[in-house]
Amino acid sequence: AAAAALVIHRKMKKPGRWVKAMQILKEFEEKCGTPILKLRQVADAMIVEMHAGLASEGGSKLKMLISYVDNLPTGDEEGLFYALDLGGTNFRVLRVQLGGRTRGIVNQQFEEVSIPPSRMTGTSDALFDYVAATLAKFVAQEGSVFKPSPGRQRELGFTFSFPVVQSSIASGTLLKWTKGFSIDDAVGQDVVAELAKAMERRGLDMRIAALVNDTVGTLAGGRYNNNNVVASVILGTGSNAAYVECAHAIPKWHGLLPKSGQMVINMEWGNFRSSHLPLTEYDHALDAESLNPGEQIYEKVISGMYLGEIVRRVLCRMAEEAAFFGDTVPPKLKEPFVLGTPVMSSMHRDTSPDLKVVASNLKDILEISNTSLNMRKAIVELCNIVATRGARLSAAGVLAILKKMGRDTVKEGEKQKTAIAMDGGLYEHYTEYRKCFEGTLNELLGEEVSKTIMIEHSNDGSGIGAALLAASQSQYLELYES
Ligand code: GLC
Repeated sequence: AAAAALVIHRKMKKPGRWVKAMQILKEFEEKCGTPILKLRQVADAMIVEMHAGLASEGGSKLKMLISYVDNLPTGDEEGLFYALDLGGTNFRVLRVQLGGRTRGIVNQQFEEVSIPPSRMTGTSDALFDYVAATLAKFVAQEGSVFKPSPGRQRELGFTFSFPVVQSSIASGTLLKWTKGFSIDDAVGQDVVAELAKAMERRGLDMRIAALVNDTVGTLAGGRYNNNNVVASVILGTGSNAAYVECAHAIPKWHGLLPKSGQMVINMEWGNFRSSHLPLTEYDHALDAESLNPGEQIYEKVISGMYLGEIVRRVLCRMAEEAAFFGDTVPPKLKEPFVLGTPVMSSMHRDTSPDLKVVASNLKDILEISNTSLNMRKAIVELCNIVATRGARLSAAGVLAILKKMGRDTVKEGEKQKTAIAMDGGLYEHYTEYRKCFEGTLNELLGEEVSKTIMIEHSNDGSGIGAALLAASQSQYLELYES
């Protein structure tokens, strides 16, 4: 009788639980709303911050960092160059043989290694020793298809995807870590000097010719392939953008005006924040418990490192307050960052009638079985809410850049084309996110302007871009020396 009573009791309680869970979901959805008007407000607020960041050092949440790249690749670059791309969960080393205008990229090879988590939060030496060791191994396997310039030191473009205040094209101090990195003794240090020391300890003889952010590398790589590229956006573990600014529109730049009249600016847009951003209690909690509380707020709602974690937090609330998964909260669900964005994306994209991908992910990743179809549908909807908000907000960021550059309108008779180089795992692999981003951008720009804007995926553009910038730097030096 007791058991029967329990069943009846559960049955009676269940509809209440479901209603409560759906209430939590609905409330979250409402707070995540991104109507077009709001997106325009976000874009305008970003433009205000862009101006402030260009006006003075520390004048804004947007650092608007000067990259010292005042010339982008032309296609004439020639020779063997290396690049090292450090900034996500993986890092890459690559070499590329550039054949000049007629031959382009003759040969390239790369290797990708994951960074052991302990090196992401240890000491500067531990990280850079690991990087230098991987690079040294890679260089040793050069082989004979690659042709270094006789008698010259090998040269390297260093993509370092964190906020760095540069003092030249090949030096700069780390302002702070972002994403999953946190190595105290590296903050305030010249990262080129840190890498150079580690290379020396390893006996690796190479000159670091250019230090670039991944956005700047992507812009350079994009320009090499398409002359219309004037901006770049990374949607990956973190998120950021760079664009070509008029040198005279940078009041904080006190150096000589570059001949080109232009300067690439690394916005560090991840640190943008505004009262117009639709933030929820889940976002505030995520931020408070993160490695960098109070920082990178925009990044925390749009980028790959955090989307899955937001989904997890909402599910956790549904489990705790509405017994969404039954009487107990599944223990796995309480682990921060167990639900990665790749898993979220595979659930979101599940179109099987019984949502079996959702079911198997819940089982494998969260150790939750026996979910009903309606529950799985609700989870897909949750993924959709989180991804949609992120994608639409990142489109607003692109609108801000286009507006700042005066490329958000078409003037009569003008045939100007604008291309934006995009990269990052989120953009590359999360199809629903990418489609929503592109759709929203079109919606914001209108049909006529949309036709003049090209969004281009530049696969691993940042590594190649760093090598290309190392090459233009080296050729500039050669001219200068002779
Ligand atoms: C983070 C970094 C930024 C980088 C971006 C994408 O926002 O601070 O420098 O460009 O991630 O990797």
